[in-house]
Amino acid sequence: MTSDAVFINEVGPRDGLQSQKVLVSTEDKLALIQALVDAGLRSIEAASFVSPKAVPQMADADALFARLPDRDRVAYSALVPNRRGLDRALAAGVPEIAVVLSATETMNLRNINLSLAQTEAVCVETVQAALAAGVRAKAYVAVAFTCPFEGAVDPAVVRRLSRLMREAGAEEIVIADTIGAAHPREVGALMKALAADLGAEQLSAHFHDTRGFALANIWACVEAGVRRFDSSLGGLGGCPFAPGAAGNVATEDVVLMLEQCGLRTGIDIPALRRAIALAERLVGHPLGGRTARWLQSEDARAQQREAATNTVAAAPAPVGA
Ligand code: COA
Ligand code: ZN
Repeated sequence: MTSDAVFINEVGPRDGLQSQKVLVSTEDKLALIQALVDAGLRSIEAASFVSPKAVPQMADADALFARLPDRDRVAYSALVPNRRGLDRALAAGVPEIAVVLSATETMNLRNINLSLAQTEAVCVETVQAALAAGVRAKAYVAVAFTCPFEGAVDPAVVRRLSRLMREAGAEEIVIADTIGAAHPREVGALMKALAADLGAEQLSAHFHDTRGFALANIWACVEAGVRRFDSSLGGLGGCPFAPGAAGNVATEDVVLMLEQCGLRTGIDIPALRRAIALAERLVGHPLGGRTARWLQSEDARAQQREAATNTVAAAPAPVGA
């Protein structure tokens, strides 16, 4: 029987912040991560160890990892693109790394300046070196449905890359719709095929919400037995290397939908909304997923209910009641 527990991996501090114009300070990132932990997030991608010239927003990954809160109860991970990134991650005490293979030639060239074959070799080597150093490893297959440069992606390529990374020792394969171009039917078909290849417990999915299809895509994954999802608070995100990519699916949208469907995420939405309000202050613009307006009116209704209760409590007790 498939479990009703769902694991949310919050990627706002990495995938979210990497595309922002502002450089958020280490101190502020730590406050944001603390707010996410307070909301119940127990798996957080905190940073990437990439070239600071390519992504200046992540230049403080080493300093950040040295100070992360609640390391005993939160599974923190970091993305690493190459051996240099792994060495930095190991020095910073990162407990889990993630490598990224894009499913097309052009996307790998644009993202990390390597061909697909070179990327495969680097990712296999990085995963094996991480495991040898006692660090857990997972692998992303990016642009798994549509590539902004090459168009539709052959599912057979994604299955081959996923198998390759599992054989290299990656514990989890994260299928990423990097630009938010996938639709639920193809997502369901691919995830079912991958679940047959590797087992659904080994799979996770990462959607961007460019066209508002992310929740439908997540539901297609749930139906294929997948119980792990990436998301970003308030839908914060985008990808500087993938034109057209909007933000990640919003964590609050995923939590609201899954909880209403009877699945359990362990995440507290009011506390998550406090983290989103903090993120808005840090990046200097409004955030919020598809449910933002509904959640705001829920807040207003809760305040009205509270005000009504206070009024009743303050009124003199009716005689004889
Ligand atoms: N961390 C820090 N610096 C790194 C690094 C890492 N992991 N890997 C390489 N560098 C440095 C090199 O030391 C070199 O520095 P120098 O110019 O001062 O000598 C410079 O970056 C270029 O190194 P090179 O090996 O020639 O790499 P490149 O120019 O081909 O760039 C990447 C390759 C992977 C480093 C770069 O494209 C990158 O960081 N991409 C990240 C993209 C990303 O974050 N995408 C989103 C997530 S998928
Ligand atoms: Zn992403």
